[in-house]
Amino acid sequence: MPETTAPLHLRPAEAEDMPEIVRIYAHYVATSVYTFEEVAPDATEMTRRWRQIREPGLPWRVAERRAGGIVGYAYAGRFRARSAYRYTVENSVYIAPDQVHRGIGLALMRDLIRDCSDLGYRQMIAVIGDSANEASIRLHTRLGFRTIGHEVAVGLKFGRWVDVVQMQLALGEGGRSIPAAQPTGYARA
Ligand SMILES: CC(C)(COP(=O)(O)OP(=O)(O)OC[C@H]1O[C@@H](n2cnc3c(N)ncnc32)[C@H](O)[C@@H]1OP(=O)(O)O)[C@@H](O)C(=O)NCCC(=O)NCCS
Repeated sequence: MPETTAPLHLRPAEAEDMPEIVRIYAHYVATSVYTFEEVAPDATEMTRRWRQIREPGLPWRVAERRAGGIVGYAYAGRFRARSAYRYTVENSVYIAPDQVHRGIGLALMRDLIRDCSDLGYRQMIAVIGDSANEASIRLHTRLGFRTIGHEVAVGLKFGRWVDVVQMQLALGEGGRSIPAAQPTGYARA
């Protein structure tokens, strides 16, 4: 396990990081309702997802301890495929279970928000599995997200119904102006 006091380094994710990312994500797939996936993807599938994010130029970042080891990651993908949604992204953030509550999620998300604003996106949506996910709701609140929706009993995992909380953050000018340009990478997607 990475040394917890080593300096934290944030950088774009590379294909070689996928096995470590899968290890973090698989823990939450197997033990929590924070994700609605029930079977963890393998590194090949995670690499496919990473390419789908990176090809249009969207950000996928990892946090790494210099002593070695990825301790968390965050990425932003298209919120929905239909073209009018093109200025809106959905974020995901996962921190290694032995590294939570140390500011890593906050650091990754700040970078992700800056990246998406710089790329011309206008809204970011967090789709949070389980209304009892206090850490995630608190993290997003700290970043300025507001709760915009609460879907009741839309997931069934581990034999219980699970809610979803949606939170939203305006990026840049948000809905206050009409962008002059497409968001970066849109034409290529
Ligand atoms: C949610 C998650 C990404 C937060 O990242 P983190 O690195 O643990 O959070 P940070 O240390 O940056 O803290 C951010 C805020 O959340 C709060 N927080 C973190 N863990 C918490 C916990 N277990 N309970 C209550 N609040 C918590 C922090 O106190 C801080 O708020 P504050 O400054 O107002 O006190 C991380 O806990 C995680 O990976 N959880 C499991 C997966 C998940 O739910 N991902 C989100 C999917 S949308």
